[in-house]
Amino acid sequence: MNDRFFIRGLSGARELSGTIPVSGAKNAALKVMAAALLFRDEVRMENVPAIEDVKRMSDLLADLGCKVVSGKRRTTIRCFGKLRTDLSPDISKRMRSSIVLTGPLLARFGEVSLPHPGGCVIGERPIDFFINGFRALGAKFSIAGTPSGKTYRFRAPGGKLRGAHIFLKNPSVTATETFLMAAVLAEGTTTIENAALEPEIADLAVFLNRSGARIEGMGTSELRIRGLPGSALLRARGAVYTTMPDRIEAGSFIILGALCAKKLRVEGCEPRHLKALLDALSSAGVSLEVGKRHVTVGTRSRRIRFRAVNIKTHEYPGFPTDLQAPMTVFLTQASGESLVFETIFEGRLNYAEALTGMGADITPMDPHRILVKGPAALRGKKLESPDLRAGLAFIIAAAAARGSSYIHNVYNIDRGYERIEERLSRVGLHIRRLSS
Ligand code: EPU
Repeated sequence: MNDRFFIRGLSGARELSGTIPVSGAKNAALKVMAAALLFRDEVRMENVPAIEDVKRMSDLLADLGCKVVSGKRRTTIRCFGKLRTDLSPDISKRMRSSIVLTGPLLARFGEVSLPHPGGCVIGERPIDFFINGFRALGAKFSIAGTPSGKTYRFRAPGGKLRGAHIFLKNPSVTATETFLMAAVLAEGTTTIENAALEPEIADLAVFLNRSGARIEGMGTSELRIRGLPGSALLRARGAVYTTMPDRIEAGSFIILGALCAKKLRVEGCEPRHLKALLDALSSAGVSLEVGKRHVTVGTRSRRIRFRAVNIKTHEYPGFPTDLQAPMTVFLTQASGESLVFETIFEGRLNYAEALTGMGADITPMDPHRILVKGPAALRGKKLESPDLRAGLAFIIAAAAARGSSYIHNVYNIDRGYERIEERLSRVGLHIRRLSS
């Protein structure tokens, strides 16, 4: 739990080489696990990343009464019979994605209760979209106060949600997924307007449709879902769901390769999901070889000078907020001034101070914008991982720096990346896990 990483920096040398495999996507696997609550038979999943968040989601489902069996990258989930509908406060408070369980639980059992969901400290993360959307679907909402915090409760009169028109003020990823799942078992038709377009959502919808759901408009901002009749549930009928590759992990490896590799092949990714990143890196002068399922990055030249580029995070297909911190590390090594504009979460630039401590030239403009001037030589340092994406950004910074770094709070990195140190060691990074 209190592990830390020791990383010996490459002082700007390009020493990484080889092939690094990309794991299954955290933010796809977690949602399919939640969707198992919509099924009358077992859901079999493959390529499931062995990460802390998946373990927490398994624990949450088990606590509700589901049977979860996990093997090597395989998970089987059975949600049979009457289950509990109150989410374990201990786990939900530590994992934002626990909120997606509310959709299937409320739709199937007519009620659900939960504490305010926790997760990475990257901003306020309110749940008003969920309250408004469930109300539109006919649910009653109430809040009860307990000594340990608030408990939210949703209840569907008559035990059934009714199809409705939901307009999302912002295209929220988890709100889109939650209402998509709820609507599958609701009475009548639901439309979700201004739905998020992240590829993990279409992937979930395709899986649900294969199992009997009736979702139209996948990959567009308007989803139309016809609910199943009566108390019918979905059926997987033995079909296996294979988790799609993690585009954020792939993108982070590409950034690492751009800074530290002579030739790094990022294997088993979907480059078409990474267009915003690949475009930004190309504009900065990074040479990339893009295949169907891989990206190769790196150069033997020591004299390569990258150019500054401005980054503005945006919902998919724009530049992902989850790649903003790793990209900032890259920009510390590019010539000129880059403006990084984080538009999704207001607390997601706090890590920049630690990079400044390593020698980066970063000026905060306001809670959403920083100005990065480069190139600036980075020095190894003792760092604390604030959240999983910034944690990986620190690994990249430590790899590019001169001298050694210690990254504490590795638990935050393990939440989303499977045995990251083993994969990075294999391509030549000197990284060791120290347990205390
Ligand atoms: N928002 C509201 N009210 C709500 C819900 C969202 O105002 O009820 C706002 C948020 O505060 C934010 C914006 O809507 O400003 C968009 O947030 P979104 O709801 O899309 O984020 P999320 O669904 O909570 C997912 C990922 C995040 C990723 C974001 C953006 C999961 C489990 N999480 O979060 O992933 O950063 O979408 O792409 O899918 C991560 O994996 O490290 C991570 C944080």
